[in-house]
Amino acid sequence: MNDKLIIFDTTLRDGEQSPGASMTRDEKIRIARALERLKVDVIEAGFPAASPGDFESVEAVARVIKDSTVCGLARALDKDIDKAGEALKSAQRSRIHTFIATSPIHMQMKLQMQPEQVIEYAVRAVKRARQFTDDVEFSPEDAGRSEEDFLCRILEAVIDAGATTLNIPDTVGYSIPQQFGATIANLIQRIPNSDKAIFSVHCHNDLGLAVANSLAAVMNGARQVECTINGLGERAGNASLEEVVMAIRTRKDVFKCETRLDTREIMTCSRLVSSITGFPVQPNKAIVGANAFAHEAGIHQDGVLKNRETYEIMRAEDVGWAANKMVLGKHSGRNAFKSRMTELGFEFASEEELNEAFFRFKQLADKKHDIFDEDLQALISEVSFETEDEHTKLIALKVCSETGEVPNATVTLRVEGREMTGTSSGSGAVDASLKAIESIVDSKATLELYSVNSITNGTDAQGEVTVRLELAGRIVNGSGADTDIVIASAKAYINAINKLQTSNKRQHPQKGDV
Ligand code: KIV
Ligand code: ZN
Repeated sequence: MNDKLIIFDTTLRDGEQSPGASMTRDEKIRIARALERLKVDVIEAGFPAASPGDFESVEAVARVIKDSTVCGLARALDKDIDKAGEALKSAQRSRIHTFIATSPIHMQMKLQMQPEQVIEYAVRAVKRARQFTDDVEFSPEDAGRSEEDFLCRILEAVIDAGATTLNIPDTVGYSIPQQFGATIANLIQRIPNSDKAIFSVHCHNDLGLAVANSLAAVMNGARQVECTINGLGERAGNASLEEVVMAIRTRKDVFKCETRLDTREIMTCSRLVSSITGFPVQPNKAIVGANAFAHEAGIHQDGVLKNRETYEIMRAEDVGWAANKMVLGKHSGRNAFKSRMTELGFEFASEEELNEAFFRFKQLADKKHDIFDEDLQALISEVSFETEDEHTKLIALKVCSETGEVPNATVTLRVEGREMTGTSSGSGAVDASLKAIESIVDSKATLELYSVNSITNGTDAQGEVTVRLELAGRIVNGSGADTDIVIASAKAYINAINKLQTSNKRQHPQKGDV
């Protein structure tokens, strides 16, 4: 019998700590629902003490998710733990994840605490969390650079205090697989009460080793892996869920573990997270990249046609690539549209919202013959954002672009209910359009990134544009999709401007005092 490996997804918490990846409450609910269909064991829904908005998001996810455990992060502070407990009140199954830093550099420089004091905080936090739930996780932050003897002491103490999961984070992505695996084995062996808790790992990807470190830990006794869809996360990201899960599944012979995930839902989750956060997936990314299952060289194709196992170690359909099919078209009715949206995990809040989305779908189907799941996800991202936080809306865009002439754009926006028009020239159609928008909104933001990706194939495909804006240290990503990439660019820019206007003062969990 293989052991069960618990998959803890932190896309909504650590993933959201990527610059510009912040998500609205409704977007988090959509991702949480997709994760539940993927059958992840634990969904870390956020850090409730960060802001009232974060609290509400965790509360909302806790209300709708029935099958997965919903987890809230809390520093080792009474006020954080109480907030997490309160936000998780209506969850079917809840977990509080509390943490405090344990490496010499973090204890001295960030916490300015003595090691004994850190143990006291940790024990107190775990005991307090146990008043809200029996499922309490403790993380010694920066464990990858902590002393093993100290880790043994603090972990033994928190197990006695009631922690049921001990998560070992490689917070700064410093560890190397062989050494990280050995640390996990040593902790399990040296801590006298280690059999009373599940050992977990949480690896960052600064050296590109997050998945390798996580798998080394599994080989040495870890039975929970914390990861994110598409490897999203702080800096270089976290261990990628799809890579960890497919490695465990494909090499059961080595890991002797199993997850309960329905891997056919991986692609849907990947696309959804990418479209909501505006973080595109690189084509050569394992499992979910556009080339992951594409066979180009003739010799490979010939081998695959004769026997697919000559060059394939996994089947594309097992991770949901087969679901990448044409689903709807111009003649599809409202019911077909609604039921496909439900299958994709989207529930309309009202008839009005369904009508608006269906109207947009019809408009798109007039321009584009085949409508794929990716098109529907992009469409719904736009509709949901508009119903929530739309201060500025695109009304019309006209662009003149001709060889030998300077491109010129005229844009009409509705800003806080008032229609305004602006004109600008530019080095190209996109540049002119974004400058025309700026002539109206005057955001003073700096454009840090602009990228275009084709959502599906063909010249009639929608282009999905991502822009990243920075203003006074705040970074937001905006995305927009359209069969016309100039319009998609304008939508993406306006989406980012709207996000900048939405107030979002939040506490970063790892950058405060404790
Ligand atoms: O990377 C880290 O250490 C974390 C902790 C909060 C677990 O994200
Ligand atoms: Zn982390």
